Amino acid sequence: MKNLKIKIAPSILSADFSNLSRDIKAIEADADLIHVDVMDGHFVPNISFGFPVMKALEKITKLPLYVHLMISNPELYIEKFIDAGADILSFHYEATVHVDMLITRIKNKGAKAFLALNPHTPVENLRLFLSKLDGVLLMTVNPGFGGQKFIDYCMNKIKLLRNLANEIKPDLEIAVDGGINLENIVDIVNSGANVIIMGSEIFGSSNPAEMILKIKERIKNL
Ligand code: DX5
Ligand code: ZN
Repeated sequence: MKNLKIKIAPSILSADFSNLSRDIKAIEADADLIHVDVMDGHFVPNISFGFPVMKALEKITKLPLYVHLMISNPELYIEKFIDAGADILSFHYEATVHVDMLITRIKNKGAKAFLALNPHTPVENLRLFLSKLDGVLLMTVNPGFGGQKFIDYCMNKIKLLRNLANEIKPDLEIAVDGGINLENIVDIVNSGANVIIMGSEIFGSSNPAEMILKIKERIKNL
């Protein structure tokens, strides 16, 4: 991995929506990005939130917003989410037949493109166009809900993707999402991930800011 900064991205899916501003202020000084999960009840069996919440987030925080679209037909919404404040945008490989076109649209609009893969989708499928991407988001649970258990075989998938990136695009950012905690974070970073998305481990703890510091402490010498 080519000296990539390790970034911690708390996922607000596990925040308290009746106190969103308070929860974000609590982690703002220590987090690198805010991860925003948009679910449509069709691509995944859950519905979360959309543009009104993003508008609110823009008022609450200066941190970059990393928007993870778990929606069918993402081609209908790419530019709208960037207009709504997405600095990084992920759509799912499995959700569209226009992967290359959507990457191009994200980049043309000035945001970073991180293609998201469900656990079963092979990283080899990205070989031809990996160099067009800023990053890849590896789902390490089945998308749709916070608080699930990390799927073990995904650890090997992180390594396979880092090896592929070393061959083709050494500065590729690898984001991991789902079931990440203080116990497995060392293996995850050692496997080659650098954008660490965490929901329940951070917002489910009694002191989210302290939890981020503990996470950073654990990986600081890797
Ligand atoms: C799940 C979402 C995740 C979720 C992760 O589909 O994409 O971002 O918030 O939550 P934890 O860290 O609790 O698994
Ligand atoms: Zn997510």
